[in-house]
Order: sequence, then C-alpha cells, then structure tokens
Amino acid sequence: MTPHDDSNSAATDHRTALVAAARDAQSAAHVPYSEYRVGAALETEAGDVFVGCNLENANFSNSLHAEEVAIAEAVKNGHREFSHLAVSSDRQDGVTPCGMCRQTLAEFCDDELVVWCDEGDGSDDGATAAETETEIQITEYTLGELLPNTITEETLE
Ligand code: THU
Ligand code: ZN
Repeated sequence: MTPHDDSNSAATDHRTALVAAARDAQSAAHVPYSEYRVGAALETEAGDVFVGCNLENANFSNSLHAEEVAIAEAVKNGHREFSHLAVSSDRQDGVTPCGMCRQTLAEFCDDELVVWCDEGDGSDDGATAAETETEIQITEYTLGELLPNTITEETLE
C-alpha cells in the first residue's frame, strides 16, 4: 500500500470514522459499578450510523450493553439492514461484543456483518492517533466468526 492509495485510505477512513463514533458514544455511558465505558456504532447498508453506550443498573442484571442500545436505536427507527459495527471501551482494549450481544446482533445482522474492535492509538504515552498521525489499531471480525452455527429465525421454521 502506498500513502496515496485512494481505495485503502478510504477504507481506513471508514474504519476510523466508525470507531470514532463508538468512542464518542462512551460519553453517555452510565457505569457507576464497573467504571468500564463501552460505545458501539452500528452502520446500516445505506450508511446511516446509530450509536449506543452501556447503561448499568443497581441490580446489575438489568444493565444494557452498548451494542444492544445501538441495535434498539436503529431498529426502532426502522432500520434492519446492517453492514458494519464498531465497538470501543475506554480502555481501548479491543473489547468484542459479549456472547449475549453476538446473539442479539444475529437476530438483525447476517454472518457477513463486519465488526471492528478498538485496540487503541498504538501509543503507550497517552497520545491520540490524531496527535501522532498514526492509525487507530483495529481488529476486524465478522459476526459469523464471532458466533458460528447460531440459532436464528430459520432454525425455528
Ligand atoms: N459491556 C457492553 O456494553 N458490551 C459488551 O458486549 C461487553 C460488556 C458492558 C457491560 C457492563 O456495563 C460493562 O461493559 C462491564 O462488563
Ligand atoms: Zn454484550
């Protein structure tokens, strides 16, 4: 890849923008118990982006995960065709959707859904990717890799 390879830079911009949306979504998280902020950004086939954050509850079990909130936001607005999901925690630790969220995603997304997980800015001195002009480090999965052989609506036919 050259620095002027437009197709690759467009792909990088796409990944960076969706992960940035997931990072921004963390600011609304309600996390008094875990102090672990998560943001998710779900992109439709048409390019609309819906975000969610985790919302914890004093009884713990009622806590909502960022991916669930993003899916709910999209579906209640009439969207059911998704191409990409970005997930980010404030630790920038490459967090992936948990098992429950993978199953919830599988209700509305196919195996080809691309999942981008935020591994941070590639710097251990606290500098952001923008400050160091490096790329955000991202691990890519598909939903099919994260949740193979899952139960779906078709299973119940
Ligand atoms: N969390 C998410 O929001 N998404 C996941 O799939 C992983 C876990 C949240 C739930 C809880 O508020 C915190 O992260 C610690 O588990
Ligand atoms: Zn989850």
